Amino acid sequence: MSLIDLRSDTVTKPTDEMRSAMASAEVGDDVYGEDPTVNKLERESAAATGHEAGLFVTSGTQGNLVALLTHCSRGDGAILGADSHIYIYEGGGLSAMGGILPLVADDKKGIISPANVASWCRPVNVHFAPARLLCVENTHNRAGGIAVSPEDFGATVDCARTNGLKIHLDGARVFNAAAAWGVDVKKFTAAVDSVQLCLSKGLGAPVGSMLCGSSDFIARARHWRKRLGGGLRQAGVIAAAGLIALKDMSRRLGEDHENAAMLSAILRSGGLTVEEVSKPTNMVYVQLGRSGPDSAELSRRCAARGVMFGVVSERRFRLVTHFNVTASDVGQAGKIILEEMKAS
Ligand SMILES: Cc1ncc(COP(=O)(O)O)c(C=O)c1O
Repeated sequence: MSLIDLRSDTVTKPTDEMRSAMASAEVGDDVYGEDPTVNKLERESAAATGHEAGLFVTSGTQGNLVALLTHCSRGDGAILGADSHIYIYEGGGLSAMGGILPLVADDKKGIISPANVASWCRPVNVHFAPARLLCVENTHNRAGGIAVSPEDFGATVDCARTNGLKIHLDGARVFNAAAAWGVDVKKFTAAVDSVQLCLSKGLGAPVGSMLCGSSDFIARARHWRKRLGGGLRQAGVIAAAGLIALKDMSRRLGEDHENAAMLSAILRSGGLTVEEVSKPTNMVYVQLGRSGPDSAELSRRCAARGVMFGVVSERRFRLVTHFNVTASDVGQAGKIILEEMKAS
């Protein structure tokens, strides 16, 4: 039985081209700044995102944490979405490591509104943790994988700037956002002070994320990465795959979005409630009604037939398309899910 794994785009396997680039990568000691492949990846990521410098980090979580620690000091506040990945899924690293206070704001629609940003920018007063940083996420995972529009993104970023905040973009899937809107990724990435983008999700690299920003910011971030144990040695072996992810894989994401749209249509036509998203990308979230199997039960039954998806809560589950699933896989997965719903 072949497996159709729709749990996440993190399950993607490196391509043959990536594997052969990894085998022949030129390497050196990256903590000494001597790994030519890492240096190239850092230069190319900076150029692609419209920043002066880049830093190769082990994961999205590490990239976001390094950014927060570099922007903020202990006792500072960072405005974060209540549904953001940084707030919900990163182990509270900003508070544990940095003594940073999350200033939580509504981001159900994928972006924090300018008014909400402004409301956290309070006058200087000993009672308040001063807001230093705004964190935004695009695409926004828990808001259905929505690609926030350049206009909405720009309005929130402008408001943060006017209020003297620094801005960090959790751009784990920012190339998906750019593909969905048909714009250069710089439309989002160059508007912020720092961006973290994942090479290891839809872009298919086995490991790694990039953090990009000004030269001064990245020099300070490099220090934080070392403190967190993220200084790697012959990391060119993995950076070689990252170069292919950045250059080639970022161009094919539209295909994943088409497959996700097809999956939504199949599930809807079978009577399932697929969440509406104004600009969907590679994620499909489904809400189950009160009767019938819950997400965990449906997931067990479908997994027994080779279809895997992510259980979000008792009555909500998520399917993510990526380059290791074809249009025909998606058709097959949709059919099996509907059959298992009806079998209950
Ligand atoms: C929006 C978002 N940000 C950050 C991350 C963290 O990335 P990593 O799993 O590489 O730590 C994820 C992971 O799924 C994510 O979805």
